[in-house]
Amino acid sequence: MSDSNGTAHEGNFGQNGFSQNGSNQNGSNQNGHGPNGYSQNGSGQNGHGPDSLLNEPEAPMLETGRRYAQIVGWGYHVPEKVITNKDLEQIVETNDEWIRSRTGIEERHVAADPKETSASLAVIAARKALEMADVHPSKVNLIICATSSPEHIFPATACLVQDALGAINAGAFDLSAACSGFVYALSMARGHILAGDAEYVLVIGAETLSRMVDWTDRNTCVLFGDGAGAVLVAASDVPGGIMATELGSDGSGAETLTIPAGGSAMPASLETVGNGSHYIKMDGKAVFRFATRVMAESTARVLAREGLTPSDVDLIIPHQANVRIIQNAVLKQLKIPEDKVMVNLHKYGNTSTASIPIALCEAIEAGRVKPGNNLVFVGFGAGLTWGACAVKWSVPVEKQAAGWWKNYRRQATYQAAAARSMWKRAVRWVYDVWPNDPEAVPVKSGEGPQQNEN
Ligand code: UT7
Repeated sequence: MSDSNGTAHEGNFGQNGFSQNGSNQNGSNQNGHGPNGYSQNGSGQNGHGPDSLLNEPEAPMLETGRRYAQIVGWGYHVPEKVITNKDLEQIVETNDEWIRSRTGIEERHVAADPKETSASLAVIAARKALEMADVHPSKVNLIICATSSPEHIFPATACLVQDALGAINAGAFDLSAACSGFVYALSMARGHILAGDAEYVLVIGAETLSRMVDWTDRNTCVLFGDGAGAVLVAASDVPGGIMATELGSDGSGAETLTIPAGGSAMPASLETVGNGSHYIKMDGKAVFRFATRVMAESTARVLAREGLTPSDVDLIIPHQANVRIIQNAVLKQLKIPEDKVMVNLHKYGNTSTASIPIALCEAIEAGRVKPGNNLVFVGFGAGLTWGACAVKWSVPVEKQAAGWWKNYRRQATYQAAAARSMWKRAVRWVYDVWPNDPEAVPVKSGEGPQQNEN
């Protein structure tokens, strides 16, 4: 399951495509679209402003006949509560030295407040991504929430996010591919956009795995953290964006990383809760071996499909599970130097689907992503699954200062979404308690089903 449009070399973005401030220098912008493929005659001052998205969402943007999927907004959120390795020493038989040297993790954020859930973290990250792109939630066509710790088996966490955002024109679903989920979701987003089915897709990775780890199991509880990251993927006629993706799986390794109970194979019961089958179980060594192999192989393959080699990579953002996996796969096997590898797992631990988007946001904040850069996102996880994605970054990374009226309008949008949701719930409640269905068509006497008088 993979695809590529093979257009990586249509332009040299760094030199003749876009300047660093996002303006098109080569005059090739004949159709009036800015660097993101958005109209420059909108209110976005430098032409890449997502204002133009807002003002002309229906504007024909495909005059070149090609469609591209560009990441135009990004945001992340982690819970406030931090648990350090030292804190863990008080809970299980472990020590800071072991955790640092075997994993690279120093601390992780954990959803301590019961109101902090995968959806609540996702909503904050998604709002930031929309604000970054200056796109109204009603413009979003699809919300994909990759998560290994959904709020429920159903409904999808993505639907809760849709409701809270007021994304009234969006389909929404959760994607289950464990820690590879964000790359899988990007691939789905790209597919929808290239097929012409969507203009904007919100891709989220959101986790509260702290609620699924056994805090007495030192093999797992030291590894995971909570958080959410989101990107807004938009249709564009500017070459670049999400290019080749490769997705893979090997279900023969399903048992190496699993939550055995709570699904249809082993429904939750007093017994499953009693023996802890509802917690994460992992064969760490097996996952480690698998991860180091697939990370290197799928990165090399996805680059090759774009005609690139590891030496062309400006920044690789691997799934943040263990620094030793990254060192082995990326530094040793792919020979990508350390300064081109994004690592932030020391601060967050393994946030599963959220790890790549959080790392992407931090890389952008640190000035490590620029238009024209070749990026790779690569993940692996339970399933077993893996996925890699080559991105030609083509949009400006500077945040436009939002006027007070925009902030005001945003807040009003979110309040309206909350009010709309409450109203709909109230209407459903009325329907439930009303003695007669208010929408039922009255049946005149003699029109009902005939009674059999015999
Ligand atoms: O998103 C995908 C999620 N999963 C992963 O990416 C996990 C991939 N695997 C790993 O990252 C590593 O295998 C671990 C970090 C989980 C474990 O590291 P390891 O170097 O493979 O350790 P190990 O399992 O071989 O254990 C070595 C020793 C054992 O003691 P003995 O049997 O040698 O006496 C463990 O009991 O370390 C012990 N140990 C610990 N000691 C202190 C295991 N966990 C801990 C701990 N603190 N937290």
